[in-house]
Amino acid sequence: MRIAHISDIHCNYGADFNNKIYEKAVKILNKVNADIIFISGDLTTDGLITEYEYAREKLKEIEGKLVIVPGNHDERNLGWKLFPEFFGETDFIHIYDEINLVGLASSEPDKDNGRLGRGRHKLIERGIHKNDRMTVIGFHHHVIPVPNSGRETNIIDDAGETLDIILKNEVPLVLMGHRHVPWGVKIHKTLLVNSGTFSCNRTRAHFGNTFNIIDIEEEKITVTVIDIEKKKQKKMIEFDFEKGYCKNKYYDSKA
Ligand SMILES: [Fe+2]
Ligand SMILES: [Fe+2]
Repeated sequence: MRIAHISDIHCNYGADFNNKIYEKAVKILNKVNADIIFISGDLTTDGLITEYEYAREKLKEIEGKLVIVPGNHDERNLGWKLFPEFFGETDFIHIYDEINLVGLASSEPDKDNGRLGRGRHKLIERGIHKNDRMTVIGFHHHVIPVPNSGRETNIIDDAGETLDIILKNEVPLVLMGHRHVPWGVKIHKTLLVNSGTFSCNRTRAHFGNTFNIIDIEEEKITVTVIDIEKKKQKKMIEFDFEKGYCKNKYYDSKA
């Protein structure tokens, strides 16, 4: 199964949205043959209805099945009421042949930080125990600080409890966004993966605009980062979740 993991599109009529890079990104994305395209939030910048309309139009250029959770920017200015109208449910379990995908809204209206809460923790557990497929969890914020992203704030308020549920249940993959940089790290038997920003001008240093391609085979997860401007791809992580073996080029230059 192949998941295109994209994040932080930031459609707006101000300085955030880079339409030129978006067009480039979509051209690449439409050729990667992803089974699903998971968008980990921040489709807009201020949660305004004009931005939601713009985002919905721009997403029509993407071919394939979109699965979307909201980000903190989408919840601004009562945008949290618009999200379900435009993009459907915010918390869900989708069952595919290979995986259960648990999508969660981690944001709170008009706040930059997030929280999952007990209800969503229960949804994670329901996803895990539904069948014997592997579980993948996706939400906007992060559970540990993300390096190279500026201020290291906005870890969800209940990161400890969330991480505990994830690690105890050996969830192999968690997909996140928000910090506008690609990153991944294995903790215990879980791979935490961040997607960089797809089309926002607020990139960090030389990281540019990126998205991830995640290939899930029987026992292996491979994360490849696509640099949109340079049209280059770099295999970042290979994780054998049966054996627990993980090669992470982000940290291991010999890998
Ligand atoms: Fe963002
Ligand atoms: Fe965000």
